[in-house]
Amino acid sequence: NPNDFFLTYMGEDPVILTRDAKGEVHAFLNMCRHRGNRIVRADDGNAKNFMCSYHGWTYSNEGKLVSVPGLQEAYYGELDVDNLGLVSVAHLDIYAGLIFATWAEDAPTLEAYMGDMRWYLDVRFNHRDAGVQFIGPVKWTAPFNWKTAVENASGDNYHAILSHRSSTLVQAARRNLRVTPMDYIGQPGRRQTSPGNGHGLLSTVLPEESDVASAGRMQNPQTPRENADHAYAKAILPEVEKRLGIYRARRVAPGNFAVWPNFWLGMHVSIPRGPNKTEIWTFEAYDVGAPDEVQRLVREQSVHGAGQPSGLSMQDDMDNWRGVSNSGGHFAARNIRHDLSMGMGHDGPGTDRPGLRVSDVFCSEVNQRSYYTRWEEFMNAESWADIHIDPITGTYEGTATFRG
Ligand code: FES
Ligand code: FE
Repeated sequence: NPNDFFLTYMGEDPVILTRDAKGEVHAFLNMCRHRGNRIVRADDGNAKNFMCSYHGWTYSNEGKLVSVPGLQEAYYGELDVDNLGLVSVAHLDIYAGLIFATWAEDAPTLEAYMGDMRWYLDVRFNHRDAGVQFIGPVKWTAPFNWKTAVENASGDNYHAILSHRSSTLVQAARRNLRVTPMDYIGQPGRRQTSPGNGHGLLSTVLPEESDVASAGRMQNPQTPRENADHAYAKAILPEVEKRLGIYRARRVAPGNFAVWPNFWLGMHVSIPRGPNKTEIWTFEAYDVGAPDEVQRLVREQSVHGAGQPSGLSMQDDMDNWRGVSNSGGHFAARNIRHDLSMGMGHDGPGTDRPGLRVSDVFCSEVNQRSYYTRWEEFMNAESWADIHIDPITGTYEGTATFRG
């Protein structure tokens, strides 16, 4: 709504996201231009102006400094008010309702930065005319490096077979199913996929067209709530086909994913809180106007699975991630190289999907290599001139645009 604001972070910098009275979106450093105090303290709300609690400098939600106590009496009217507005990000852009920003003047466009990752994310976030809405965030802090969770989400399906074995069995038993490790490995068309620019995901291209949108949805519903979701996915298929084309609507399913560097899986954001501490923000997404039972299923899966810290899979994951950070971060361990060689030489450009490097089989560390190679590239770069951008190669059928 006009004049809404939301407090967030870019890296460790606190940021105020605002929508001004005219509807335009802005992002500012949450720092007073006087002596640096934090300005906004509430997580979100609706306000035209923000007053710093230290000495009362006040800023509009467009970032202008609009009031300074003692402007005449103490500053003799000489303060450069016009140049002391809030510090704005250099660029802000919106993909399918998701807002991204950067401090770098020379950054590429968001569309170029996302590259072919968009081809997959469209299936999840850009498939309905009315768009997708988010609930949350649930915020929680855990003792591991912020990258550890992201590279897992970018393409570590190797761990699911063992780490999530017990939680998978429990959930399968409830649905009267038998699960074997081959159910993970043997499913056709599931590949670790590096679309470029350090992004990664597990993507599935079904061998045949499905009659539900999109292919990632439950194909064999068991419970009344799952049946409702299945019926909904059938009902929206014509609209999804119109927006994304038949191929993506009926055959393509993005699984776990990571948009480099810190946006991952459903919708989680990793916020660094020092070298071995991460604050994770979890949001859940459902289609605007989705039936109640479909929304309930999304929340239920989030709470019980890999969404919230309460989830069985998330508990498995967090235990491993803290183990990685705890044993790997000290004197002796820091000189030991880890092994990320799985599937090296056995991946190549996608033939049935876009991607510079697509694995031949379900398990591969191709995405881990892409993620950390990109990290190395960024850490060694002086500016964006030193950072390469991969070309967009996917075919974008349908009416959906980058913006939505
Ligand atoms: Fe904000 Fe002084 S630090 S008004
Ligand atoms: Fe996991």
